[in-house]
Amino acid sequence: MVVETQERKEVPKTVHVSVPHRAQPAGTVLLRVFRYNPNTKDEPTMVTFRVPVTKGMTVLDALLWAKEHVDPGLALRYSCRMGICGSCGMMINGEPKLGCETQIAELGAATVEVGPLPNYPIVRDVATDFTDFFSHHRRIKPYLIHKDNGGLKPVEREVLQTEEQKLGYYQFTMCIMCGLCDAACPIVAMDQEFLGPQALAQAYRFAADSRDEGWPERAAIADSPHGCFRCELAGSCSAVCPKGVDPALGVQLLKREVLRRRFRIGGFLVKAPARRQRSRL
Ligand code: SF4
Ligand code: FES
Repeated sequence: MVVETQERKEVPKTVHVSVPHRAQPAGTVLLRVFRYNPNTKDEPTMVTFRVPVTKGMTVLDALLWAKEHVDPGLALRYSCRMGICGSCGMMINGEPKLGCETQIAELGAATVEVGPLPNYPIVRDVATDFTDFFSHHRRIKPYLIHKDNGGLKPVEREVLQTEEQKLGYYQFTMCIMCGLCDAACPIVAMDQEFLGPQALAQAYRFAADSRDEGWPERAAIADSPHGCFRCELAGSCSAVCPKGVDPALGVQLLKREVLRRRFRIGGFLVKAPARRQRSRL
């Protein structure tokens, strides 16, 4: 599908509801969905669908039910439906979450409100444009750089690493690039050039990898005016990560690494602790 990049759009405070609230029949949920097409002059609205709830139904399932049975024009993005691809980030009752990992039952609410992730331009309805997000990720060079492979050719010889060295960055490899952390970040909201918690945590992931020799190139980006020192440690990025990654920690460790190398302070990279996965219903 070809999409055009649009300006970031605030979710409207005043919205139109197409179905009035009332006690809904047992086994159903009211799904209020943000609808907006930036290619038209129409204002954003909220449209309500009454969706029959089945055991284990996720918010993504409910949206797909509405799309299949009521409104085929509803736009959303998803792929794996199992919390792997990172495509289905959306605001669910005011919090950034993965639609495919959030069960209707766990929300414990008669009404579920769904909208696009903030801090991203809206493509249409719940679908947002990740062009800047992916571009920030590419800028930090998210791959191992080795002197033997200046042209990014595969390294011919085996590059060994101990278990302890691996644990220095391992939790950051669990990132699925869902972008929820950037959606929750107040600095991303103010500064569209800010690299954001996802990209900066990944910069640390590669800086902390004993096989990597790309620090000078990566540091020039991480230590730029829109780099790691723009972070004010709100911590909201880590609070919303669905994979138990702690991007706020990654950004702070990156700051420390920048200073350590800038002032040639000795010491070792601290092992980033593994985070506990969130329990699911
Ligand atoms: S750090 Fe977590 S919230 Fe951020 S993109 Fe990666 S998986 Fe998503
Ligand atoms: S559809 Fe892949 S993470 Fe939700």
